Amino acid sequence: MVVILYKVTWHFILLLLIPVFHSGDQRCRLPVTELNGMTQPGDIMIGVLLPIHLGNVYQEILFNEKPPRTRCTMFHFESYQQLQAMTFAVEEINENPDILPNITLGFQAYDSCAVLQKDLQGALQVLTGHDRAIPNYRCVNNVPLSSIIGSAISTHSILVAHILGLYNYPQVWISHLSTSALLSDHRKFPSFFRTVPSDIFQSRRLAQLLLYFGWTWVGLIAADNDYGQQGIHLVQQELIRAGACVAFTENILTSHPGRNADHIVKVMKASTARVIVIYATEIEITPIFNEMVKQGISEKLLVASEGWSTSTLFSQGTFSTLLSGTVGLALQSGTISGFRDFLNMVHPSTSLGSDWLKIFWELSFNCKFMDSENQTGLSHISMKDCTGLEDLGSIQNAFNDISSLRNSYSVYTAVHVVAEALEDLNNCTQGEGPFSKRFCGNISNFAPWQLLHYIKKVRFTLSSGREIYFDENGDPPAIYDIVNWQLSSSGAMNYVKVGSYDMTLRQAFTINTSAIKWTSKDQQVPVSVCSQGCPLGFRKATIKGEPVCCFECIPCPQGEISNHTEKSRCFPKPIEYLSYEEPLGVMLASSNAISSLVPFTILMLFKHFNSTPIVKASNYSLSCLLLTSLTFCFLCSLAFIGYPQRETCLLRQVSFGMVFALCISCILAKTIMVVFAFMATKPDSNLKKWTSHSVSRTIIFISTFLQFILCVTWLSIKPPFPELDTKTEPKLIILHCNEGLPIAFWCMLGYLGLLASISLTVAFFARRLPDIFNEAKFITFSMLAFLSVWVSYIPASLSAQGKYTVAMEIFAILASSWALVICMFAPKCFIILCRPNMNSKEQVMKKTISTID
Ligand SMILES: *[C@@H]1O[C@H](CO)[C@@H](O)[C@H](O)[C@H]1NC(C)=O
Ligand SMILES: *[C@@H]1O[C@H](CO)[C@@H](O)[C@H](O)[C@H]1NC(C)=O
Ligand SMILES: *[C@@H]1O[C@H](CO)[C@@H](O)[C@H](O)[C@H]1NC(C)=O
Ligand SMILES: *[C@@H]1O[C@H](CO)[C@@H](O)[C@H](O)[C@H]1NC(C)=O
Ligand SMILES: *[C@@H]1O[C@H](CO)[C@@H](O)[C@H](O)[C@H]1NC(C)=O
Ligand SMILES: *[C@@H]1O[C@H](CO)[C@@H](O)[C@H](O)[C@H]1NC(C)=O
Repeated sequence: MVVILYKVTWHFILLLLIPVFHSGDQRCRLPVTELNGMTQPGDIMIGVLLPIHLGNVYQEILFNEKPPRTRCTMFHFESYQQLQAMTFAVEEINENPDILPNITLGFQAYDSCAVLQKDLQGALQVLTGHDRAIPNYRCVNNVPLSSIIGSAISTHSILVAHILGLYNYPQVWISHLSTSALLSDHRKFPSFFRTVPSDIFQSRRLAQLLLYFGWTWVGLIAADNDYGQQGIHLVQQELIRAGACVAFTENILTSHPGRNADHIVKVMKASTARVIVIYATEIEITPIFNEMVKQGISEKLLVASEGWSTSTLFSQGTFSTLLSGTVGLALQSGTISGFRDFLNMVHPSTSLGSDWLKIFWELSFNCKFMDSENQTGLSHISMKDCTGLEDLGSIQNAFNDISSLRNSYSVYTAVHVVAEALEDLNNCTQGEGPFSKRFCGNISNFAPWQLLHYIKKVRFTLSSGREIYFDENGDPPAIYDIVNWQLSSSGAMNYVKVGSYDMTLRQAFTINTSAIKWTSKDQQVPVSVCSQGCPLGFRKATIKGEPVCCFECIPCPQGEISNHTEKSRCFPKPIEYLSYEEPLGVMLASSNAISSLVPFTILMLFKHFNSTPIVKASNYSLSCLLLTSLTFCFLCSLAFIGYPQRETCLLRQVSFGMVFALCISCILAKTIMVVFAFMATKPDSNLKKWTSHSVSRTIIFISTFLQFILCVTWLSIKPPFPELDTKTEPKLIILHCNEGLPIAFWCMLGYLGLLASISLTVAFFARRLPDIFNEAKFITFSMLAFLSVWVSYIPASLSAQGKYTVAMEIFAILASSWALVICMFAPKCFIILCRPNMNSKEQVMKKTISTID
């Protein structure tokens, strides 16, 4: 009984209350100044909160009289454009028969003047559906509120999202500009979505941009709200992680009338940091810029967060020198087809929201309406009257500039997200729905959480081709443009897109540095470092009490070096020598080893055919000795490759000299024997006894022995030894064999040259003499080749450095040995293998006789 009575009483009270709300009875009402707003009725409503004005007159509240009402200032053309983008999107959807047929979208929009209380009040009014906010009541029956789009300011979004949490169900809240990373926490803000990326991405990308340009000494300035503090903190973290340093961090005190500008600009001026990151919205930084202009700061380069990077507030003349060159991240721009015409058709007599429109009209055309209050803050006295015939198409301002739509595009997207979700809800077939018992939502009577279900899953493509969806945190894919502020010749500030970050692409970061206009005269990238880098050979030394980016340079000790990647410390210089590990060493060693098989194979061939006339006629034993020494000529070069040790240094030049001396001696002996053999054929010659083998052996022994004496002298006076050369190359230590007595090396080489020259001379005069196969001719060729290789070696070895000197010598050995092998043996091998018929006594004799003839 009591319960029933209670219920009846409650219903009775409610019945009484409803007319009270409608009549606006002063007794129950809390005094609240009304918000400026506009409403378009519809079957389903969307709430919109926009800062149409960016500021308010700062009034001190003294409490000895009724606190004055907030007076909004700075009517913002861009926000007004955003409002039109919202209107345009709603109109587009209502006119489209494919989306929500027979259902009209309506909206309720309020101006928050960038004041927190007004954003809150606006949210409550939208919830109530009534011009006067009544907490806990929705006074419009059968007109569901789909969602609230808005609050451009993160702090406001956070607070309103909390307040809306009071109502047992989540309210769908889509923001087009609140980027704070805090709002990504989907446990705290389950019904918060946004059409702009979270600042987590933005801060990282900003830090990346700074590092890309090598700015490691930067100043940071941030608004003292959630947006600024969170954002700048992440930038700082990223910078420090990358080894860069922060020169100073200052906060813009948003609730102070002066915003702390005086102090901030003083710090800025005193700091050596050239680059300054400002993480704030345009509303907060105007006083800072005014102060900078006042104090005449112009050499600083500003880096903008998306909050002000494309702000049209600063495009006027006073800021142009201060701000041109600014780089920053901006929301991705998009295009809305038909929007330009829509904007130009805005007119006080036909469009909604006449209050705002009048202010807009007056400011645009510098005129006044007869009945208007003094809202624009302009002096009305000398102004002409507005006729309503003014043409918006004939003027250019931030309102009808649609060259790069960013914030407006974001609002437009948000409306489409809501419409798309509603459409999905409407399109559900009963019995196949996503809710319990496979139910669907009822489009004319749905619960907000039902719409939320669809918003989470929204995935569609706008007419501009951009795909829209949310991740598990309610964030869209992170895409930013990189913009550069460039002053055009006409004095207007252009926000030129010079690159982008698109996390949906594999190559996320692209930038066209040549499209950036810096303000420095030489057009070079400005430098912002605390200490310049150390030159090669110096290392960084930290200064006590200074950040790591500020350091001194001290020279590296002897034998140590610093290089480009390793500048903070010195390390031993790398040691260079021709090793078996590197391609050059491997190539030379393998070609020498393989080449050494060639004389060896010829030796085997001669052994096999030793009874044939051609082998016999060319002095078999001398040929065998020559082939053996040639094999060693190739092999001795291997001693030049590898880590030079005491033994290899001692042996390599000596063995080279000895082996080649033996080789050339054999050829010399051969030449002399040819001459003697011819002379001996003359009648009554007493030279017969000179043609014996013992003579050639003596020649070989004597000429090789002379070289041997030279080598022994060298080794006993000053033997070669391994040495580290730190002087020739600044970046390397060259490990090489010091020849000890370089003159001895050149003597050795000269002696070889002498032997070769004698052979050449003798062979040259003997070239017409009849002998088997013109051996003298081939000897002439071989000696010529040998001499030319070693003559050209001299300048080459003097100009080469480090391991290339050694490589040059190996190459000379290879080339001269090949010259000897080819000239001396190729023709004989050809006859032995390919023309066996010529390898007969008759042929050999015939040839000899024909040569004599
Ligand atoms: C929309 O309304 C028209 C006229 O009232 C009706 O013929 C049509 O079937 C409706 N369409 C839908 C999808 O309800
Ligand atoms: C309008 O207000 C401004 C400043 O608030 C004032 O200077 C101006 O005289 C006012 N104009 C009129 C017509 O009241
Ligand atoms: C509506 O639902 C049907 C099937 O349930 C589907 O084929 C159609 O594409 C949906 N329409 C839209 C606009 O989502
Ligand atoms: C949807 O809700 C409206 C209003 O509450 C009601 O008239 C209608 O019958 C409902 N439709 C369905 C399919 O439940
Ligand atoms: C980079 O910018 C310059 C100057 O605006 C332009 O000429 C060039 O085509 C751009 N390069 C690319 C790859 O976009
Ligand atoms: C610099 O020296 C370090 C340490 O020896 C080495 O790892 C690095 O490759 C060197 N860098 C260059 C460019 O030589």
